[in-house]
Amino acid sequence: MSVPKNDKVPIQEIPSDTRLNRLNNVFFEEFGAKPQFFVKVPGRVNIIGEHIDYCGYPVLPLALEQDILIAGSTTDTQELHLRNSDKKYIKYWSQLKSSEDLEIKSDPNGKPYWYNYVLCGIKGALEYLNNEVVGGLQLCIDGNIPPASGLSSSSALVSAACLSFLYAQKAKLCKTEIASLCAKSERYIGTQGGGMDQAIAFLAEKYSAQYITFDPLQAQPVSLPEDAVFVVAHSLAEANKAATNDFNRRVIECRLAAKILAVSNGVSLDRNIVTLSQVQGLLKKNLEEMINLVEKLLFKNIYTKKEVSDMLNITEKDMDEIYLTPNTRHIKEFKLRQRALHVYEEAMRVETFRKTCEEHFPNGRCNNTNGTNDSTYTNGNSNSSQPIHILGTLMSESHESLKNLYECSHDNLDRLVDISKEMNVHSRLTGAGWGGCIVALCPKELVDKYIETLVDKFYVQYCNIDKSKARAYVFATTPNHGAVIYK
Ligand code: GLA
Repeated sequence: MSVPKNDKVPIQEIPSDTRLNRLNNVFFEEFGAKPQFFVKVPGRVNIIGEHIDYCGYPVLPLALEQDILIAGSTTDTQELHLRNSDKKYIKYWSQLKSSEDLEIKSDPNGKPYWYNYVLCGIKGALEYLNNEVVGGLQLCIDGNIPPASGLSSSSALVSAACLSFLYAQKAKLCKTEIASLCAKSERYIGTQGGGMDQAIAFLAEKYSAQYITFDPLQAQPVSLPEDAVFVVAHSLAEANKAATNDFNRRVIECRLAAKILAVSNGVSLDRNIVTLSQVQGLLKKNLEEMINLVEKLLFKNIYTKKEVSDMLNITEKDMDEIYLTPNTRHIKEFKLRQRALHVYEEAMRVETFRKTCEEHFPNGRCNNTNGTNDSTYTNGNSNSSQPIHILGTLMSESHESLKNLYECSHDNLDRLVDISKEMNVHSRLTGAGWGGCIVALCPKELVDKYIETLVDKFYVQYCNIDKSKARAYVFATTPNHGAVIYK
């Protein structure tokens, strides 16, 4: 069952919780009164479907137990005051009369300030409300999603800020509207992300992953095998997609590939941007046929800017203005075949993954008619027809594709994936990549041994980390629910 369109973010009573109490105290110390409400938005791990949301294809994430927690109160003065429970993050204040009051600029090293993500969420909400807002806002923020880890700490922060502001302004939006608004708002940071992170932040349900489709935004729960666990392990390489142009470069390479496929086939002849999925729709082809088309039309490994503009029948200046972003306009060479192939093949993997789950685990357990547990996995003796093996193989293929075609892996991520493989555990990088985490599908009975092996072989031997500290970088997940307001 998909999430009803008009479903609202739940408002619940403030639970008794240590972290919440601590934040309550910090808020009191900073602002001299108790907060009026709390907002909690989870991070996410994407199981499969990487770098395809901004091309219009479905993805399959789940919400984590780690989250961003905000304590908030409205004020009479039209000002915004921000604090972080971690004192290493600087304080912030500004006027809050119009979206133009919120200036999103980088620090002297070109990295975004921590509060920029909060500003993105509030700026988006202000624009949505046409700047017709009453009063101001005090927010105190606490997060336990490891930053720059590919687990969506930034999107959770944008989403939590946007939700806090909308709630304070008594704006009545449903979950899908807020998720779409947050996805749009986050682009103020400069990256052209898709909507996966914000969608799962609001539409997640406990105990299941979500099959998220875009345009229109919808989520359908997907039951996962009961006898396997998704384990997340940090590569110790930071992945801050707003600090480089790697992410946007992939976005525009997909954009250019899509436009060339369209124009060469006589569709979408105007100058509008199209996604790879829209081209598929326009050409009425299936994913396999799209893959063949890419092989046929985009056969070169590298296209120069001149070649691309010639194929699109536009000048390089037009190309800059219509298809490129400010931080990709200087790029002179593009990899179009590799990126488009990844997207179409990854979209196929997501479909196979979802169908396998639907067929074998309709209620979160094996669809078992013969009395044996047909998803049981035996280390070193896996049967290729077993559903967990099918799911794992798809995840391994996804990683290979992200590494070789999309070129967004990192040596540390590959090392983690290789160590996992040695234990017959399938894994892949999750999130944008270039660092951050892997997610592994690990049979339940192997989890402890798997985690211990990663600790020894990766954190201790490869990264020289103290064993006592290493354990904090790897954890097993349980799918969590989406955003909540406490009052
Ligand atoms: C980031 C973006 C998402 C998505 C992933 C890659 O997390 O915010 O929209 O594109 O990267 O799958």
